[in-house]
Amino acid sequence: MRTDTAQPVRLADYRPFPFRLESLALEFDLAPSATRVKARLVVERLSPGPLVLNGERLTLERITLDGRALSPGDYVRDSETLSLDAPEGTFVLETEVVIDPEANTALSGLYLSGGRFCTQCEAEGFRTITFFPDRPDVLTRYTVRIEGPGKWAGRLLSNGNLVEEGVTESGRAFAVWNDPFPKPAYLFALVAGELDQLEDRFVTLSGREVTLRIFVDPGQSARAAYAMDALKRSMTWDEEVYGREYDLDLFMIVAVRDFNFGAMENKGLNIFNSSLLLADEATATDLDFERIESVVAHEYFHNWTGNRITCRDWFQLCLKEGLTVFRDQSFSADQRGAAVQRIKDVRLLRARQFPEDAGPIAHPVRPTSYVKIDNFYTATIYEKGAEVIRMLKTLIGDAAFRSGMDLYFDRHDGEATTVEAFITCFAEKSGKDLTSFFRWYEQAGTPRLTLTSDYFPEKQRLTISLAQTTAATQGQTTKLPVPIPVRLGLLSASGAPLVARLGGIESDEHLLILDKAQAEFVLEGVTERPVLSPLRAFSAPVRLIHDQSAHDLYVRMAADGDLFNRWEAGQILAEALILKRASGHEDELGEERFAAALGRALADESADAAFRALMLSLPSESDLAQAVSGPVDPAALHAARDALRLRISVHLSGQLKRLHHDLQSASEFSPAAADAGRRALRNAVLDMLCATPDGDAASHALGHFRSALTMTDQMGGLLGLMALGGPNFESALETFYTRWKSEPLVIDKWFQVQARDPSETALGRVLGLTAHPEFDARNPNRLRALVLGFASMNPFRFHAEDGSGYRFLTDQIIAVDRINPNVAARLVEPLSGWARYAKPLADKMQGQLQRLFATEGLSRNVSELVGKALGD
Ligand code: TRP
Ligand code: ZN
Repeated sequence: MRTDTAQPVRLADYRPFPFRLESLALEFDLAPSATRVKARLVVERLSPGPLVLNGERLTLERITLDGRALSPGDYVRDSETLSLDAPEGTFVLETEVVIDPEANTALSGLYLSGGRFCTQCEAEGFRTITFFPDRPDVLTRYTVRIEGPGKWAGRLLSNGNLVEEGVTESGRAFAVWNDPFPKPAYLFALVAGELDQLEDRFVTLSGREVTLRIFVDPGQSARAAYAMDALKRSMTWDEEVYGREYDLDLFMIVAVRDFNFGAMENKGLNIFNSSLLLADEATATDLDFERIESVVAHEYFHNWTGNRITCRDWFQLCLKEGLTVFRDQSFSADQRGAAVQRIKDVRLLRARQFPEDAGPIAHPVRPTSYVKIDNFYTATIYEKGAEVIRMLKTLIGDAAFRSGMDLYFDRHDGEATTVEAFITCFAEKSGKDLTSFFRWYEQAGTPRLTLTSDYFPEKQRLTISLAQTTAATQGQTTKLPVPIPVRLGLLSASGAPLVARLGGIESDEHLLILDKAQAEFVLEGVTERPVLSPLRAFSAPVRLIHDQSAHDLYVRMAADGDLFNRWEAGQILAEALILKRASGHEDELGEERFAAALGRALADESADAAFRALMLSLPSESDLAQAVSGPVDPAALHAARDALRLRISVHLSGQLKRLHHDLQSASEFSPAAADAGRRALRNAVLDMLCATPDGDAASHALGHFRSALTMTDQMGGLLGLMALGGPNFESALETFYTRWKSEPLVIDKWFQVQARDPSETALGRVLGLTAHPEFDARNPNRLRALVLGFASMNPFRFHAEDGSGYRFLTDQIIAVDRINPNVAARLVEPLSGWARYAKPLADKMQGQLQRLFATEGLSRNVSELVGKALGD
């Protein structure tokens, strides 16, 4: 059984730190298994109490107070802290510790990746580097001296400005960095090792010149060009949209292969998972380019929302993450088109956050307790956190939003603050009472919004009733109404915009604000029975219950002026048809009608290609699983979805083949949105063509794969062949492997494709791949490609009736937990929704969770999530 029953940390227990840190001087003497770290802290007492420092896995060699060596009787140490009775006034505490980066497989703190030293300190990694109050509200100025092998001269990096570098008498290289901006420990970074660099410059709005450097593995610098371009565009955007300039003379990014998540915003020295930085047309897909652009922007934007203004405690995580996601989404919308971006953002929200909010780990955007903070970097904090900011902007208007942001930057610069302080800025600038808005931060669960309407032709009047409820979640039984902004459009029967009056405003779109449990809205001057287009652009993160006729949905699918809702109408129609089939009712006419409507949407060249590609993609199997009201049967959903795809594919066969041919492009590669959209459409077309498993589809897929000039097309072809299966797929996999075996990021894709294979042999193949010489569970990218590729991207085979998929995942979690608890915890999610599955499956999932829970020596990270999934 687990021995470690950890106490939760609570928001209500927050107390300010009783000391102020004037400065921290760090000295690193780098060696793989014994790095020496000296720290000199200048501390001032503010209020009574002992000085408690965090420190884990540190070998303490020396500790002095104002120059006097302390002996073990002078302080108290346990496995997590060091406490001492500190003097009054200002004093100097010096420590010297030895740490072992080579043994650090958790990739938190200082570790090695491909022989290079790097750090990851958020949330609580700094305490494994030195003794320090490792909490986000303790800010100080850092000076860092790094000493390492002579060949690493110019490659010993930390935050801020380089103040000195050189070679010691013994031939070691050293560098000294100073960061003028006080920062919390989680923003500290150090990188050292053999690296190539790409350099550029940027002149800020006020004319300051900034040097930009991206460091990558030797030989890879050409692949950093797109990230560099994205960085410069991000810098310009933050100046134009938020009036925010960069504040140091140097901005550095380093790409590393072994990294727990996407990327990290360390001050002046961002560290990236190489999969989110390196790209060229041959090895990266358009989706990779798109993600790189958005993550580069995200980490850069953190410089203001996160670094200059940081969080008082980890309960305020959404203060930096939700806001920064909102900012990067807005950036991407400006770079690539608002409608397509919105659809992708909402798809992600629904795929990852909605299930979270409906399951055992449901928590508010601002939680009130946690066991392991690493487990709270969730879709709720990030994605729902961004939705809340978006609603705030909708509710108070663009101008008040911008002036609220200005006030926030002005008032809290240099501070560690709270969500309340942030919201207060907007209340002041808008003059609105945002008390009930704050519930969006405090209540877990996705509200259900019900819309009903009545049309009175003789009065030309439309009444709309809106009502909201939120189901109880773990530990939160009563829910109060939240303000819900509902953008509502009206269309005529032919799809033309239809004008109406509401509160003196005449328009074909209105903003209804539901700020209580239910309310009625009356629109006048409505000349015909309107087709309603509610919740345009997904104006609130709710589940909309709106019983709309197929007729109205088809009008919207063809002509809704809001492209998000045009796409949404298609999704609703497809979902209904698939669920109908899955419950044994095949609606042949309905399916034909839908296929024909899709055909018209595909032919509508007034919409851009990226949008048409989205129209063509049906709701995923996991979307469908969420939409089911009773117990989920993944095999039935898979079969029903495939059957609808087959129908569409047959119905549109001629059109699809024509499009596949016409969309071929011989022009020079560009990663920009227009070209990427064309490739996305052609791949979506191929995907639909391959729903008919005939020789024609096979030759299209083979041709697509063989003639591919980009990774986007190569992957498109490979996925088409995967859908068809058989020897063509096998030989394509082999060709792909042989061609790319020296490119780890591409080999990740090779592992993932096989994990996603829906054929019967999938699990056998995946098991075989865990023994492949290129499989390495210590590398999170490789591990996720294979294990999550299977458990979350292949629901049909993961949910195999005999429970073999669940057993496989559980084995992996147990094995990985010993290496990297943080990453292991991320693998629990596919099992945690067990209660929604049909009987034999639910029991088997629960059984594996129980097996996990009983595992000896399980980490707190995993046990917290497993415990919640089991409902303790
Ligand atoms: N703050 C990072 C971001 O969202 C994410 C992050 C938090 C992270 N903890 C991490 C990344 C640990 C890597 C490892 O931008
Ligand atoms: Zn972030």
